[in-house]
Amino acid sequence: MENQIVLDSNTFKDAHLNGVALKIHTYPDSVLSKVAKPVEVFDSKLIELCRNMLFTMYHAPGIGLAAPQIGISQRIVVIDINYKRDKITNADDSETIKLSEFEPLVLINPVIKSQEGSIDYEEGCLSVPGVYEKVNRKQSIKVEYQNIYGEKCTLDATDLLAICIQHETDHLNGIVFIERLSLLKMKFFKNKMIKEKKLMQNE
Ligand code: CO
Repeated sequence: MENQIVLDSNTFKDAHLNGVALKIHTYPDSVLSKVAKPVEVFDSKLIELCRNMLFTMYHAPGIGLAAPQIGISQRIVVIDINYKRDKITNADDSETIKLSEFEPLVLINPVIKSQEGSIDYEEGCLSVPGVYEKVNRKQSIKVEYQNIYGEKCTLDATDLLAICIQHETDHLNGIVFIERLSLLKMKFFKNKMIKEKKLMQNE
């Protein structure tokens, strides 16, 4: 069965409320450099995992998360490039972030089938906190994937959605975005991350 653009908005529309925040693995943790395995079983455990991944992404906050980033080497990606985050100042001057307008997208076993154009965008990654660098990506892509029910779907994506899908499918192939930079920059950020990790361990 072929569906054009299936957003799992009904299954996961409350994922920002009901979920568990999972630990995000940071570069250069070894799980991030592994090629992830295809998902073969589509069951309630998978739904729960995707829900928790979305919850983790919304509250990090980020616009995409791949399963290797939470230590699970499987080909699962969650994305939402459109949700709103509004800062609300409370009566006691503390601040709360209110999230709204969700469009959760869950891609299982995504494969980029065609790609064209070129676009530069300053990317960041929840696994490389504090680092933002311009990466060159394809401007438009066609991706085949399975939805949470295992149904085959295709999605045509451009611009930020296309960039995000390329960034996340890179994670499934063991590639973190700083590895797409020059060797010099990549080594610089790798050393920076290793130093920061050591500092945190000594605290
Ligand atoms: Co990332």
